[in-house]
Amino acid sequence: MCGITGYIGKNKNAISVVISGLEALEYRGYDSAGVAYTENNKLNIIKEQGKIVNLKKNIDFDIESNLAIGHTRWATHGEPNKINSHPHSQGKFTIVHNGIIENYLELKKELINAGYEFKSSTDTEVAASYMDFIYSKNNDILKTLNEVSKVFRGSYAFGIICNDDLNNLYALRKTSPLIIAKGENENYIASDVPAILKYTNKYILLDDFEIAKINSNEIKIYNQDLELIQKEILEFEGTFESSMKCGYEHFMLKEIHEEPTVFENTINAYLDDDFKNLPDLSKYDNIHIVACGSAYHTGLIGKYLIEKYAKIPVYVEVASEYRYKHNFYDKKTLVILVSQSGETADTLASLRKVKEDGIDTLSIVNVVGSSIARESKYVIYTKAGCEIAVATTKAYLSQVTIFAIITMYLTNNKSKEILDEINNIPSILENSVNIDYKEIANEIYKSKNIFFIGRGIDYALCMEGSLKLKEISYINSVAYQAGELKHGTISLIEKDTPVIAISTDDTLVEKTISNIKEVKARGAKVIFITSSDIDGDFYDYKINIKRTHELLQSIITIVPLQLIAYEVAKLNECDIDKPRNLAKSVTVE
Ligand code: G6P
Repeated sequence: MCGITGYIGKNKNAISVVISGLEALEYRGYDSAGVAYTENNKLNIIKEQGKIVNLKKNIDFDIESNLAIGHTRWATHGEPNKINSHPHSQGKFTIVHNGIIENYLELKKELINAGYEFKSSTDTEVAASYMDFIYSKNNDILKTLNEVSKVFRGSYAFGIICNDDLNNLYALRKTSPLIIAKGENENYIASDVPAILKYTNKYILLDDFEIAKINSNEIKIYNQDLELIQKEILEFEGTFESSMKCGYEHFMLKEIHEEPTVFENTINAYLDDDFKNLPDLSKYDNIHIVACGSAYHTGLIGKYLIEKYAKIPVYVEVASEYRYKHNFYDKKTLVILVSQSGETADTLASLRKVKEDGIDTLSIVNVVGSSIARESKYVIYTKAGCEIAVATTKAYLSQVTIFAIITMYLTNNKSKEILDEINNIPSILENSVNIDYKEIANEIYKSKNIFFIGRGIDYALCMEGSLKLKEISYINSVAYQAGELKHGTISLIEKDTPVIAISTDDTLVEKTISNIKEVKARGAKVIFITSSDIDGDFYDYKINIKRTHELLQSIITIVPLQLIAYEVAKLNECDIDKPRNLAKSVTVE
């Protein structure tokens, strides 16, 4: 996700401040970086593809500058290259932007008619031009920003410099985060607190449609009627690490709360008129999905969706097995590698083996420029942003979202029904991440064994729910196909053994309920997670999941499983973000 920093003041070197702020925001994930700074009353822009270290190589830190804005870009509109990276400049306006201007194509047409020319494919260059366009008519910066805030649809946080007023830094926001930080004879803007914590812990939260006009001594905030308003100055009382958690107790919880945005970003990146940015996947007769851990579990969901809807056979295997066995593939096979980090050793080795055999590969990866992404023929980046907790949550959700998109692409299904459901998902997720599962966690956290049962796609979710629980709470947990339990595992069920049963498929719900009754009769404590409205005395707790299209159902159903695992681990006082013996990126075999 993009990061913004800005500085105005005479005490420090503006360029160094914005760069160090960008470095503190690296956790957000990005693929290019840039700065704009004043030098002798002239504005210069330097930007580079890739990491901030690349950018730093081109910067002369001895230049004296009092005003600068900086940006790390997570590509949405247009490739992650130098031209598309920020800052963008048009006429008198130079800006950095986080968010998406949804009506930018409409505005671009209007601006082209008015004589503007564009170098990049970004919505941000359009935004800068539109500001310049309005300003050329009214010659008033505040009025311009106020007017554009009413025209731009979508989300935005802007850091803005106007050539006619190099004594002030401007900011404007809607939905995307932005803070204004207060120093002594110097002030800052940033996407998030970690960027400024080295210098000050005092900050103001800019609300939607508010405009900030900032010089070294003063921060003025204007409301939508351009009236000057007083804002509370907040003080951040934590460490750098806690600041990165944005008030959440753990990164895992923060990352679960980011899931609505992650879903939206992933959808926005690929679900366009022609499934933009997706490679041609229609030419394959069969698919292999290869991955490890949770990424393997998303592959199981992918298999279920692709086989059911696109009617293409899909074989799923964990990478540590796949790399050493004989695999049946040919030129009509596509091998999909799924990986958050893009560095998992077994997944990378599987990719290399497949490539050697001349088979086409597609990777679904979160970390831009990682080995798996670079070495595969095609890559689809998930838009989860930087994930810090070892136990994946938001990256898992974005991988499942990609499999839903791939299935839609393969079946050419962009029906109104599905698009409406997609539009509803962010608010459903927003509600889901805020539900409290402490009571259920309290009932099960002392158990030695916990079972997850489900059928079909719900079984794939059970596997992920079970892994999440065991990896962070250290409770033994096993996922079983509901119908298979009676062939052995049911002997482990005794009084109060927790069984988490998932059923989101109406065609199978009666069957699953029969299996639930079998464990209930043997004393199990049943937590029934379902989208059906069936009630009865076969469960102890019921978690209702909103019903949506089957392609999207898992995206919603996973949230309570993640939150239950989190609450159970918390009650057991486990190191939630860094569970013992585990690593985020497993680069050894
Ligand atoms: C580790 C992580 C898991 C992850 C797995 C695969 O075990 O703890 O959360 O699912 O590796 O990692 P990858 O980066 O390839 O998705």
